[in-house]
Amino acid sequence: IAAAPIVVASNRGPVSYRRDADGSLVAGRGGGGLVSGLSSIEREAGAVWVCAALGEGDREAARAAGRRLDPRDTGGHRVRMLDIPPGTFAAAYNGIANSVLWFVHHMLYQTPLEPVFDKAFREQWAAYEAYNAAFAEAVAEEAAEGAAVLVQDYHLALVPGLLRARRPDLRIGHFSHTPWAPPDYFRMLPDDVAGQLLRGVLGGDRAAFLTTRWAEAFAGCCADVLGAEVVRDGEGRATEVRFEGRATRLGVHGLGADGDFLRERAHRADVEERMAALRAQIGADRRAIVRVDRTELSKNIVRGLHAYRRLLEEHPQWRGRVVHIAFAYPSRQDLAVYRDYTAEVERVAREINSAFGTEGWEPVALHVKDDFARSLAAYRLADVALVNPIRDGMNLVAKEVPVVSDHGCALVLSREAGAAAELGDEAILVNPYDVEATARALHVALLMDPGERAERTKRLAAAATALPPARWFTDQLRAL
Ligand code: G6P
Repeated sequence: IAAAPIVVASNRGPVSYRRDADGSLVAGRGGGGLVSGLSSIEREAGAVWVCAALGEGDREAARAAGRRLDPRDTGGHRVRMLDIPPGTFAAAYNGIANSVLWFVHHMLYQTPLEPVFDKAFREQWAAYEAYNAAFAEAVAEEAAEGAAVLVQDYHLALVPGLLRARRPDLRIGHFSHTPWAPPDYFRMLPDDVAGQLLRGVLGGDRAAFLTTRWAEAFAGCCADVLGAEVVRDGEGRATEVRFEGRATRLGVHGLGADGDFLRERAHRADVEERMAALRAQIGADRRAIVRVDRTELSKNIVRGLHAYRRLLEEHPQWRGRVVHIAFAYPSRQDLAVYRDYTAEVERVAREINSAFGTEGWEPVALHVKDDFARSLAAYRLADVALVNPIRDGMNLVAKEVPVVSDHGCALVLSREAGAAAELGDEAILVNPYDVEATARALHVALLMDPGERAERTKRLAAAATALPPARWFTDQLRAL
């Protein structure tokens, strides 16, 4: 097996396997923004993609395949799927990555939801180290002399450092698809853990982020926690972190939407069919406020529903004249806090429907079954899109909606989403905690003049597609 000039490493890969009713293993596409960002390009560059087996189906496929998965399953990608022991994987992925690191970077811990750094945490941390070591080992095996390695996300923060120790010849970049917590918040982590995470990322030649804000937060953490030197350019922007005789360049690459793909995909027959169904559900002469998210605490779905309720209370003229189409797709259901949050979303939606609903008008249409074609259908016919995360690395929904919108869509966008840095001029920005302000923003968005809405949507679409995934990827490679 030939060594690769480019290696991509991410927890979730481009394919996932499940056992069918008849017992055979079926391959499907891996989900999530990270996978969409990477998958258009890496195929052409002769790269190998190292990822983890996430479930039992994956494990069986990985064991059966040997070193590489069958390219017919992976859309042509050369994929090495790591069969990490289930206990180690669960502790690293659910325990550390999705509970602690996700919560810290999105600043989701707020009293009374607090982190617990007890003995169980220490065991999970050891598993996170082992899981990162397994990735570093596999990447070291796959990478050709002097290869470029692109390590993705908070799951794999230790990989650059571990890899540097084994293979000093490699050029290593780390990319964070999430926000990075500012120092005052990051210091919530135990000192040794905080230090290890930062040293891990600094083991690379580059550390890259979706926006300047997250890059600055990372630099701040390095200065504050490690006492590292931060080099700044003429405008005062952090460009490099120097620590223990090495320099790590900082990069900002704001992943955009894939306009060509989305426009083509959004006009296929399955999308048209779903548009017809949604139109029937909304009813004639009614506006649609659309949201599409994973059911994720950082997405702030419950406050979005409260804001919609306040809109109906404060502006009774919208009763019977608007429908809130909310797609909340299941996510990380192994974690109790996600299951509870899902239940809360369903409960609040039901409450609104029983408080305001009438014969022939259901104020909230909540759909929880993941269906990409239906998401695109909703994007196309939305009058208003509500994207109100508490914090978000970028948020691709905010970028996808304007690209496929049929008649223009007003965007109500959280100022805490990375996308606000690029879309802020044309979107209606809100403080995601401020339910009253979000309700007012929805009202303003519903009243926006159709001509203005169409103009703004055009400018939003241009900004949203400025850095399509293929360029996002090659820019990073070139910089490395
Ligand atoms: C979102 C984030 C990514 C992250 C992914 C993991 O897409 O933006 O940064 O890698 O979630 O999600 P998962 O479902 O794999 O836990």
